[in-house]
Amino acid sequence: MYRLENLRKVFDGDLVAVDDVSMKVDHGEQVAVIGPSGAGKTTLFRLLNLTLYPDGGSLWLGDLDVGRLHGRGLRAARRRIGTIYQQHNLVPRLSVVHNVLAGRLGAWSGWRAVWSLFHPQELEAAHGALTQVGIPEKLYARTDELSGGQQQRVAIARVLVQEPEIILADEPVASVDPNLANAIVTLLVEISRTSGKTLLMNLHSVELALAYFPRVIGFRGGKIEFDRPPADVTEEMLGRLYAGISRSEAEEAGIPTPHESPLICYGPLFPRK
Ligand SMILES: Nc1ncnc2c1ncn2[C@@H]1O[C@H](COP(=O)(O)OP(=O)(O)O)[C@@H](O)[C@H]1O
Ligand SMILES: [Mg+2]
Repeated sequence: MYRLENLRKVFDGDLVAVDDVSMKVDHGEQVAVIGPSGAGKTTLFRLLNLTLYPDGGSLWLGDLDVGRLHGRGLRAARRRIGTIYQQHNLVPRLSVVHNVLAGRLGAWSGWRAVWSLFHPQELEAAHGALTQVGIPEKLYARTDELSGGQQQRVAIARVLVQEPEIILADEPVASVDPNLANAIVTLLVEISRTSGKTLLMNLHSVELALAYFPRVIGFRGGKIEFDRPPADVTEEMLGRLYAGISRSEAEEAGIPTPHESPLICYGPLFPRK
């Protein structure tokens, strides 16, 4: 599905956010990406959803060399990928159905998009997507009257009506309570399993990554530190991945903090070669 060869992104001339990353993601895989903040995870996802242009290396989407795409070809490729963000970017005062159908805008002509504001098109699609995320009865509710968790479900439904082959979720549960986080992550993994859509998720919570994903990538300093099934991810590897982060950040991520020091350092603090 994806093939990255020495993929690189540099900001402001010298900040290497993604540092020659090479990997493959197969069709239908579920992959969690974890790592401290500033690791380059969001940048990696923006390269993968084709909203950032790489500064080096190559990115293949199936048999498309993304670096050679522009214009219509690039827009078509982008439509194959649905992204869910931490801030779900819904329009609060619109009804749920309009927010969900906003996911179809890429596939519609301008006039049809405008028309849909008055007469919702493809109601079936919207209803189907809301059924998949468990809130079909909210079709005509006002979005800002829903709970935070329901709004996150609407954001997922919006991506589903886009009918993407790939779902990228960038910390979709960073600001929600643990029960809800569990439910949302399980839902996305389940959707990926049953529909065959490829799922990549950046996760703040190590626990969730290890519990629900068959493949976990540790990302730090713009590089892949490890790429393994969860059973093979050791405490020592996590210690190295998160070395030097603050205790509060560690607790938020659900990483064990064995010492009383303000920094976790059960791995060597700076294990670089
Ligand atoms: N648009 C940008 N312009 C300049 N620097 C950026 C930009 N986006 C991210 N960065 C920098 O790139 C590094 C990686 O950031 P990011 O990908 O957001 O990491 P993460 O998602 O793992 O927290 C950080 O040092 C961040 O400040
Ligand atoms: Mg990020």
